[in-house]
Amino acid sequence: MAAAGGKLPSSGSRSSKDPAVMFIVGSKIQKVRLIHMKKSANKKGFLVDETLSEKVTHIISELETQDQVVKSLKKSHPSSDVEKICGQCHVVTLEYFTSCMEEGIFVEVCDHHRLKTGKRVAPIMQSKTEENPYENAKYCCQRITPLHSVNKKFSDALELLEKHADFLGGDNNLGRALAFRKASAALRAYPKQIKSMGDVEDLYDLKGGKHCKRIIQELLEDGFSTEVENIQGDEWFEVMQAFTGIFGCGPATARKWYDLGHRTLDDIRRSEYSNLSIEQRKGLEHFTDLNTPVTRREAEKIHSIVKTEAERILPGVTVIMTGGFIRGKDSGHDVDFLISHPEEGREEELLAQLLQNLRAHLIYTDVQRNTYGEAPISVKRQSVMDHFERCFSIFKLPKDEDVVTTSGIDEERIHADEEEPSSPCKKLKTSGRSSGSTHGTSENESKSWIARRVDFVMTPASQHAFALMGWTGSRMFCRSIRDYANKEMNMILTSHGLFDKVNNCSLEAKTEREIFQHLNLTYREPHERNC
Ligand code: UTP
Ligand code: MN
Repeated sequence: MAAAGGKLPSSGSRSSKDPAVMFIVGSKIQKVRLIHMKKSANKKGFLVDETLSEKVTHIISELETQDQVVKSLKKSHPSSDVEKICGQCHVVTLEYFTSCMEEGIFVEVCDHHRLKTGKRVAPIMQSKTEENPYENAKYCCQRITPLHSVNKKFSDALELLEKHADFLGGDNNLGRALAFRKASAALRAYPKQIKSMGDVEDLYDLKGGKHCKRIIQELLEDGFSTEVENIQGDEWFEVMQAFTGIFGCGPATARKWYDLGHRTLDDIRRSEYSNLSIEQRKGLEHFTDLNTPVTRREAEKIHSIVKTEAERILPGVTVIMTGGFIRGKDSGHDVDFLISHPEEGREEELLAQLLQNLRAHLIYTDVQRNTYGEAPISVKRQSVMDHFERCFSIFKLPKDEDVVTTSGIDEERIHADEEEPSSPCKKLKTSGRSSGSTHGTSENESKSWIARRVDFVMTPASQHAFALMGWTGSRMFCRSIRDYANKEMNMILTSHGLFDKVNNCSLEAKTEREIFQHLNLTYREPHERNC
């Protein structure tokens, strides 16, 4: 494979004909990740050197400053003239590496890619003023991201690309998906309508993103993006949307089914039924219901049912509806409850009894015990799943007249012309759904209830504030604040606690505000965390 091309640094004595060569500093990068990065770069034709030499043009590092890079390289390469080599090449961040992988070439090194000499970079580039209320902050947890953005057209387009990359899977695409999401989050937080490329030029998370900028430019100039339209009209994408709309089916399973030749839910019912998990069978069975957004009114009804039962069993219990609804969304794909008691440990026996009392409402439950006693917080760094006792369930919510009209769950609806183009149900229009099918098609028009996804999460008082922050989301906000804690504060934040790596101790918090204070961050209300 030909080497990926790229501009050489202007400083130094090399000829511009020399190929660009990267060297990745191992410090602070997990071994498996490092191996993977090297593999992906090699696969894309980049030259990656294992040893530091004068041939190297780009030094990539997760460390915070050039000084730290020099220090680390001096240890690993005691016989090289580290200072000289670093002085004549680009010493850049992992963000730079991601941009290169996304574009397939050594992209131009911008100022924000470069690791600074000396102490850490100030995270806020431009403070808000009265004329410009936007803080072009590095991390989206520092910005205000409202639910409704004036730049929805742009962020929707980028989020479609995010979903597409997510469906494609593999580390490289997941990295691309994150880059699209970060760019979308930056636009969602930008309070003025984007009118020209100049508006987005300096936004964090867009600076190196040529791909994102191309989409924004197309939208600005033509009103639409060909790439976005192609994805929307793509059969594979449409089928992937439908399959991942099945509860318990992620992109990897959906891809597998597609590759086996399946195109409709009926194909899955016919050919894969015996291989399906119970979760997936339930997902297929209640596909229409579970793909009809849960309205706030329905969520509140479920909240009231759960709260009443929980209080009956354990007076003083708190049942908080978190997730998208606490951030102000009017609908969501599920309802998330955080259940706790002011007295540490009192919640322990509650879940089993609660599920027992709610059994008339529960069509499906998957209970997982807590595992937070098994490893200290510092070890559970950035883990995707938390360790609380929980139950993922499907809840049978009785319909009332108003609920039926607002949720629009009629079987007819999936054949209606006004169906959203991006809805996973649209696929069913052409799939000859359910008639003649033998498995799991019990959804029918006459039933007096609607199936809703409900998550119950049990949190001890001491971890409650951290769990609340984790489950309030958004996913991107949590990712960002954890990243900020780690990189800017040298702390580990999870849904269980906050660990100070410098002082080697855990920091307590009773409220989310206290967590923001520990992190030296301005408090953001849940409705400001819609990134
Ligand atoms: P959701 O996936 O429910 O997202 O997770 P949401 O924002 O409420 O979106 P809709 O409205 O349902 O579609 C809510 C939050 O809970 C966290 C996620 O990271 C997100 O921030 N979460 C979810 C966990 O911490 N652990 C999990 O196992 C699942
Ligand atoms: Mn949710």
